[in-house]
Amino acid sequence: MSDKFPNLTVLHHPVIEHKLARMRDVNTPHFQFQTLLEEISIFLFYEASAALETVPYPLDTPLEPLTGRRLKHEVLLVPILRAGIGISSGITKVWSEAVVGMIGMYRDHDTLQPVDYFLRLPANLGDMTTFLLDPMLATGGSAAAAAAKLKEKGARRLVLITLIAAPEGVAHLAEQHPDMKIYTAALDRQLNEKGYILPGLGDAGDRYFGV
Ligand code: PRP
Ligand code: URA
Repeated sequence: MSDKFPNLTVLHHPVIEHKLARMRDVNTPHFQFQTLLEEISIFLFYEASAALETVPYPLDTPLEPLTGRRLKHEVLLVPILRAGIGISSGITKVWSEAVVGMIGMYRDHDTLQPVDYFLRLPANLGDMTTFLLDPMLATGGSAAAAAAKLKEKGARRLVLITLIAAPEGVAHLAEQHPDMKIYTAALDRQLNEKGYILPGLGDAGDRYFGV
């Protein structure tokens, strides 16, 4: 956990550091960037899912009865389009039974305000644990608006998985959604005058899709 931001967990792991450095490198092509984001997302989900509740249930092994455990709440992944897709693609490799919703949102280049254009969510999301996914937490405007939309639709257990967070975005989200925990691979220095994270990795959507 971070001292300054009690809701924030920054994962310090040599494999994540190695992969994230390659993602930041301007010379890394989009097809490698995709693989790296998906791979790091598995580590992030491992950590972010550690607090999920389980319940007992009876089963039979080939040899004897046993009380097994299963997740109490179904997992819902909600990537923010576009770049959040990279995180859901990674997580579903290790949790294929996840339900995947989607929020389409982009930042207006001039105002930096989020503009939403798409929403697809399951009707029973209040019964689930919802992981909101977006690799970049910059001003925090997109994540905060997406979280508000999810809550409006009934989401209750809400967690954000991101790759790189700016202090400004973490502070904004903590203020707007103090109940929400944030898991990230890095807490970067600051935003520049155009709202890009420094040192960051540039535009995550462009770098993931190559356009
Ligand atoms: C990026 C990123 C976040 C948002 C973060 O998306 O994937 O959604 O910016 O910025 P914020 O914290 O200041 O809101 P972008 O707006 O570039 O959309 P795109 O992926 O569709 O290009
Ligand atoms: N969105 C991005 O994709 N990158 C940033 O640095 C900030 C917002």
